[in-house]
Amino acid sequence: MRGIFITFEGIDGCGKSTVSKQVASILQERGKEVYHTLEPSENWLGQAVRRSYTEEISPYTELFIFMADRATHTERIKKELSAGKTVISDRYCDSSTAYQGALLHEPLAEQGIDSVEWIMKMNKTIIREPDITLLLDISPEISLKRVEGRGELSKFEKQDYLEKVRANYLRIAKAESRIKIIDADQPVDKVLAEVMKAIEEIL
Ligand code: TYD
Repeated sequence: MRGIFITFEGIDGCGKSTVSKQVASILQERGKEVYHTLEPSENWLGQAVRRSYTEEISPYTELFIFMADRATHTERIKKELSAGKTVISDRYCDSSTAYQGALLHEPLAEQGIDSVEWIMKMNKTIIREPDITLLLDISPEISLKRVEGRGELSKFEKQDYLEKVRANYLRIAKAESRIKIIDADQPVDKVLAEVMKAIEEIL
């Protein structure tokens, strides 16, 4: 028996943490064994990633530290899947393509490299391809209002940056059929219903 792998993506404040936890509870109530996880992960590499948020680091270091965390995290995900569990990850490979793809767009374009394609390719070598990815799509203007209520903003939480991140997400969604775009500017119960419908279609 092999479990299915579900990932949640979207810009900061899109609601994926809330919705992914609710999906985990619903699937558990239906008798599935669920492993809910997140990136940055909870191991020491994930802690290093969180530490790097407040440091001045090269954008390449930022990319590779997220990748290093993912490579280790993927081993754990594969283990849970082969034990028959449904794995739900709050952020995974597409976060790097969208966020670090935006950060590295200019320096890589100068070298004739498309940052989104480059990171997607790199991801493919280390990941377990998700069976389905729910992209909770929302405008940064709305999502930042939600995030502002939580206190100080991180370096990722700037409107012009998040516009680019969102555009990258929508671009990846065109290239990957596993990605389902969900309108996240709706009440949580509506978002949850759409997400569950998409998951039920592949179950
Ligand atoms: P987030 O899900 O917002 O976690 P928290 O609630 O702990 O802030 O993720 C943290 C930030 O990390 C978010 O702004 C997006 C960023 N991020 C990347 O830039 N690249 C990645 O590969 C991942 C996994 C996250």
